[in-house]
Amino acid sequence: MTERESPFIDRTGKSLERPQDQWPPYVIPKEAIDLEIERLADLPAPNNGRRESFIAHPRAKEPGLGLAPGIRVSLSVLKPGERTKSFRHTATEVNFCIQGGGYTEVGGKRIDFKQYDVWNHPSYHVYSHVNDTDELQVRLCYSDAALLEMMGIYIADEDPPSVKEEERDYADEKNRTDPRAKNPFGTFQLTDDGAWLMPYETLINPETVESKAHHWPWEQVKEHLDKLSALGKDYVGRRLYLLYNPMTGRTNGTTPNFFATMTCRPEGIVDRPHRHTSAAMNYYFSGRGQSTVEGEIVEWKAGDLMLSAPGWAIHNHAAKEGTVYELTIQDQPLNIAMESLLWQEDLKLPAAILGSEAGFGTNR
Ligand SMILES: [Fe+2]
Repeated sequence: MTERESPFIDRTGKSLERPQDQWPPYVIPKEAIDLEIERLADLPAPNNGRRESFIAHPRAKEPGLGLAPGIRVSLSVLKPGERTKSFRHTATEVNFCIQGGGYTEVGGKRIDFKQYDVWNHPSYHVYSHVNDTDELQVRLCYSDAALLEMMGIYIADEDPPSVKEEERDYADEKNRTDPRAKNPFGTFQLTDDGAWLMPYETLINPETVESKAHHWPWEQVKEHLDKLSALGKDYVGRRLYLLYNPMTGRTNGTTPNFFATMTCRPEGIVDRPHRHTSAAMNYYFSGRGQSTVEGEIVEWKAGDLMLSAPGWAIHNHAAKEGTVYELTIQDQPLNIAMESLLWQEDLKLPAAILGSEAGFGTNR
């Protein structure tokens, strides 16, 4: 690659508006996923135990290789009796079992899972997956590794120390308690309109929020979705639940980057066209339907995975046959944190930055 000679790129008088160039919607049909599962299962057992493929969009490039620019999706298979070697990385994950079951050990916690269960992995927690059943285990994993790779900060550790071996540096602890290491002026307001100053030791020691792995068993989630469905016409909103991880606070996430929602769409329900800067992908596991994305009509059915709403693409979804159940992943919490979650719920009305402006009721 030729390197740029000057750091200056003249933009004088030039528009900074970007032409819309979203990745188009993309469906990976059940048949293709099944063939890949079969191929992975037929490979000789790899050293790290991970029978795994990334599921990348045709437009995806290195670094990243996501199904959306900031979302990596991988398909993982474990045969009965197999386990993956311990691993950790700086990405946070949403894990989703689409076939079989087993358990995961993450940060010293054991999570027993079955088909359609969801669980999250905090960043840099050591984990391994185990198949202690006599069926094939198949998982989808959604992570922000694509984004971290583009930032050049994806750090993965194929041979991490076990949880107990890791001990905090003693010298650091001493610094924390030495009164001379503390700026006596603390954090204080500088100007009347609310600009503040913060000392270094506070800057590098932010308030910690414990990040834990949580498990959302499908059996239990479905019970609550069914209760929403049973409300019939008394409830005009969407029949969905966010699999909420309380550590994400006001950004309403399952991980600091993504939300995962479980949705039930009764047959015949069509949502209104809308758009948002967060990218959305759906895995359907019941029913059949179609989406219109930037004017393109895309059909889908149970067992398909789809980039259903590329960031800022106008879209709507329609359930056409049978009750649709779907897991949706969106990089919405990240966009709320970045103050970039531009959302237009009604295309005749102006867009709003959600998280710093009021949101919406429902779009059903
Ligand atoms: Fe949407």
